[in-house]
Amino acid sequence: MKFPIIHPDNRKKIAWDVFILLLTIGITLVIPLITVFRLPLTGLFLIFDFFISMVMLLDIFIESHTAFIDQRELITDKETIFRRYSRRALVFDAVAAFPFFMVLSLFNSPLIIEIAYFCNLLRLVKLLRTKRTIGRIRNSKRLNPSFVRMTLLIFWILVAAHLISCAWIAIWDDPGALNPINAEQPYLRSFYWTVTTLTTIGYGDISPSTRIETIFVIIVELIGAGMYGFIIGNIANIIANIDVAKSQYQEKMEKVSTFMRYKNIPADLKHKISDYYDYLWESRRGYDESSILEDLPKPLKTSISLFLNREIIQKVPIFQGTSEEFIKEVILNLEPVVFTPGDYVVIKGEIGYEMYFISRGSVDVVSEDESIVYATLGAGSFFGEIALLLSAPRNATIKARDYCDCYSLKKETFDQILERFPEFAKRISDMAEKRRAETEEKQRNRKQ
Ligand code: CMP
Repeated sequence: MKFPIIHPDNRKKIAWDVFILLLTIGITLVIPLITVFRLPLTGLFLIFDFFISMVMLLDIFIESHTAFIDQRELITDKETIFRRYSRRALVFDAVAAFPFFMVLSLFNSPLIIEIAYFCNLLRLVKLLRTKRTIGRIRNSKRLNPSFVRMTLLIFWILVAAHLISCAWIAIWDDPGALNPINAEQPYLRSFYWTVTTLTTIGYGDISPSTRIETIFVIIVELIGAGMYGFIIGNIANIIANIDVAKSQYQEKMEKVSTFMRYKNIPADLKHKISDYYDYLWESRRGYDESSILEDLPKPLKTSISLFLNREIIQKVPIFQGTSEEFIKEVILNLEPVVFTPGDYVVIKGEIGYEMYFISRGSVDVVSEDESIVYATLGAGSFFGEIALLLSAPRNATIKARDYCDCYSLKKETFDQILERFPEFAKRISDMAEKRRAETEEKQRNRKQ
């Protein structure tokens, strides 16, 4: 029967890789203990050893039938796959699968058994092959990257500490071993020594007495010093990255408040500015939509903009019943802006360069001296269209009543849209005409 080629992203294959990763962690913990304590490889241990060899052999088979991606191309040719695998990893996988103990114990010689214990350690090379699975976990979109990094860091430190502890037991000529309590806990004592040495705490209660021990301690101390710096650097980096948005926002706030102090900005204005930033943080976690989308290609940008702005499309009645092409055109050209309570968004008599759609909040349409309120516009409404349509000065002042999330549309784009979509042009012109007449009438009534 011909075995099919497996896709590298196949779910079952990923599950298998995770199983191999867990098994590799298992052997990394158990094999060094078997070696240093010379645990007799009989009964359960022998079954475990046999099981590992079988699984590792199966892994070789699966790996040599797994396609790979080369320069974005999926390579499924059996021969190419095998050539690549044998060049890169077959040796490691074969060593990890080899049942050293079972084979060498056939010789029935104490020296060869001793060698078998050490050869068995070679199986730990499989750890080098877990890089890809760990990389996959690290890149998983479902897990928080800082959490994954922290967990992996702790994991690697524990693995290193375990291996060093086992090595220390192997060479340690322990004077405290005569004490029955110590003698029962060589691993715990060795692990304690490793942690105190690696963390550079080093109480000195366990110290080297032979030449080989001294050399080993020097090496572990050097590793510890390097590792300590590495851990501190990594943890600082991980903490800074746990919430990038928050730390960037805080950095920005610090800059803004230093600037305000330096320029002696009056207290009420300072409050307004910090309230504005607080609102930005609460409503959109400080993210600036347009700058995030800037680098994306147009089709992707359109899809994301459509998704992000679906609310405004649904809210604005004047958009209802328009074509998809029209919606796309408008959406791609909308720019989010936020106004704080009391802001003058538009001032009567000014030249208009853009119009606005309200997504959240409300504004008052008022006369120049604010004595007449012509209208109050809420979510789904728009304003600023009259000046653009008639190329005339603004016919009223617009004042934000509360925090207003708006989208602005520039005059050039507005003109292009009117030209391309005459039906929309008619709708908006009719509405503008009605508003203009209403406002003029109210102004006339006031004067009389
Ligand atoms: P524009 O003249 O560009 O700037 C002021 C805006 O206020 C105006 O466009 C309209 O969008 C809006 N506006 C003016 N009068 C009214 C009204 N009576 N009802 C609603 N909105 C109005």
